[in-house]
Amino acid sequence: MTPREQAVQEAAALSEQLRHHAHRYYVLDAPELPDAAYDQLFQRLQALEAEHSDLRTADSPTQRVGGKVLDGFTKVRHKVPMLSIRTETDITAAGASAFDARVRKELGLAEDGPPVDYVCELKFDGLALNLRYEHGVLVQAATRGDGEVGEEVTQNIRTVQQIPLRLNGSAPPVVEVRGEVYMRRDQFEALNERQRAKIAAGQKNEKVFVNPRNAAAGAVRQLDPAIAAARPLSFFAYGLGEVTPASEGGPDCTTQFDWLQQFHAWGFPVATQTQRARGAIELIAFHETIGRQRDALPYDIDGVVYKVDSVALQRQLGFVSREPRWAVAHKYPAQEQLTTVQGIEVQVGRTGKLTPVAKLAPVFVGGVTVTNATLHNEDEARRKDVRVGDTVIVRRAGDVIPEVVGVVPESAAKPDDQRGPVFTMPRQCPVCGSDAVREEDEVDYRCTGGLFCAAQRKEAILHFAARRAVEVEGLGDKLVEQLVDANLIRTLPDLYKLGFTTLVGLDRMAEKSAKNIVAALEKSKQTTLPRFLFGLGIRHVGESTAKDLAKHFGKLDAIMDATEVELLEVNDVGPVVAQSLRTFFDQPHNREVVEQLRACGVTWEEGEPAPRTVLPLAGKTFVITGTLPTLARDEAKDKLESAGAKVAGSVSKKTDYVVAGAEAGSKLDKAIALGVEVIDEAKMLALLAAGE
Ligand code: IVH
Repeated sequence: MTPREQAVQEAAALSEQLRHHAHRYYVLDAPELPDAAYDQLFQRLQALEAEHSDLRTADSPTQRVGGKVLDGFTKVRHKVPMLSIRTETDITAAGASAFDARVRKELGLAEDGPPVDYVCELKFDGLALNLRYEHGVLVQAATRGDGEVGEEVTQNIRTVQQIPLRLNGSAPPVVEVRGEVYMRRDQFEALNERQRAKIAAGQKNEKVFVNPRNAAAGAVRQLDPAIAAARPLSFFAYGLGEVTPASEGGPDCTTQFDWLQQFHAWGFPVATQTQRARGAIELIAFHETIGRQRDALPYDIDGVVYKVDSVALQRQLGFVSREPRWAVAHKYPAQEQLTTVQGIEVQVGRTGKLTPVAKLAPVFVGGVTVTNATLHNEDEARRKDVRVGDTVIVRRAGDVIPEVVGVVPESAAKPDDQRGPVFTMPRQCPVCGSDAVREEDEVDYRCTGGLFCAAQRKEAILHFAARRAVEVEGLGDKLVEQLVDANLIRTLPDLYKLGFTTLVGLDRMAEKSAKNIVAALEKSKQTTLPRFLFGLGIRHVGESTAKDLAKHFGKLDAIMDATEVELLEVNDVGPVVAQSLRTFFDQPHNREVVEQLRACGVTWEEGEPAPRTVLPLAGKTFVITGTLPTLARDEAKDKLESAGAKVAGSVSKKTDYVVAGAEAGSKLDKAIALGVEVIDEAKMLALLAAGE
């Protein structure tokens, strides 16, 4: 093949890929590639076309501003085209200088002449909108579309609280305000949380959004305004479309900065970071300052924008193709990148939560090199179907931990035998080997090793030493961290082996503090059963449950050996707590820790078991039907069972009570037919309360 033939072939392949990805991005709001990867393809095609200009056909993907008009929305021809903005590819400070140098050259300014005035803005990562106001009233909102023709989305945009429906103060006959509609990161996380819940509940048409910009685009271009309204959006104004000239009653603004102030006065949000700058030095300073603030902003930005401030100079500079010469976008490192999965590990958190984590080929994302990205939990890992060897999109935005957004189609489409195995959560904790369990209705697996598990050591020790547990005064976060990291404490009993000499040898530990801690440890040995029990950090066993258990059983051994049924007899102990206690004391390590603590001298006064009270509803059979006003059916069932009642699925002569809620059906009819007493939720709660 000749080099030319090669170029023709490559350009055709690139065009096809770009068309596909542009369609996914602009039309379906479901991109398969991070922007940075798309940009690379785009730039490669641009380079080929620069070399072989005949390849730059009218329908080449490089020849449009981007976007396509979705069927279902009315098309709007923009009165003033919505332009694109040139992106400075050099993300270092030199990018800002290069822009300033170009501007000065175009304006014919001497190198040592006075600096040019600019306005520095944020480059928001959302969707550009044109908002048309006639005599101050919002009459039309349109997306950018391909820059010439956009989509009319007025109905959806009316639901965005930050966009005024009527301008404050005096308004010209016509003005079009342009800006970016976006979704804040916290709103995005919350939306995806809701989306995941819907998917878990079996709603097939729902999806999880890959990033806030996508979620925002999805909301704006949602055909059902009610759904759009449920996805909160925000807005920043930054530009102008058609406007009545000053000579005919339009605003008399001569700079970009004046315009931004005018937008603000009309009621639009304008980013507070916006700043005037003189010359390249101040552009660089702005880029650096915002770069430091980027992670802390509540929304995504992918760079900053520099604009020549004077409208007259803007006119003089004009445009090249569809990009103004008077503005440039100066980017930051991309927040999404492609990389490959080298392994999937399971990490154990401080509270015992097991999290699958993808081990990645190192990749530079959002300004840092990332080698780990969370897959959240088993369900998420399976839904995304991430396998070892796959190419994935990694996202790191703000101080959020990096996450795997999804697998690229090429990897996902491979036959199953050419990919790694489907992820399954181990049933044993990878750190300590104790059982890992997933409770009903929970997404996370947890290690049941508690005190024994190294991953949970610091948290377990802090909890045990807390004021409401055995209370070791002066044993705080920092000290526990130091002690565990130096391997001076591995399990709780090690606490009581700490001596004055060990403590005083620690960094930043004064003699007096060391003495105090030794004394506090000694004091903590004399405790009470509820404090000790609470201090063990058993899941679902809070202070009050610990008290109830101590009162009911009197002695620790009785609690450790109680069966689930016996545990259920305790006031306020339901199946979840009973099971959690059982799992905890079934782990031999946990019993060992308890024994060792006793051997170290931790003691309390044991009591007698409370007289066995007959459970208030023992021997009674209940049937629940319909929707109860406040309790979910499972909750009602738990409560009744904890009080000793049996809850049956169907009504018979042996049924004592039928608890009926809204839309109760045939069970209610049957109860009436058999003469079984029918009660409502309130009466049921009263029966439960009466028995206490
Ligand atoms: S001005 C004449 N200012 O970037 C220049 N655009 O690539 C027109 N954007 O479609 C755009 N923040 O979605 C401008 N402060 C800002 C911006 C901004 C984000 C987006 C906008 C536009 C794209 C241009």
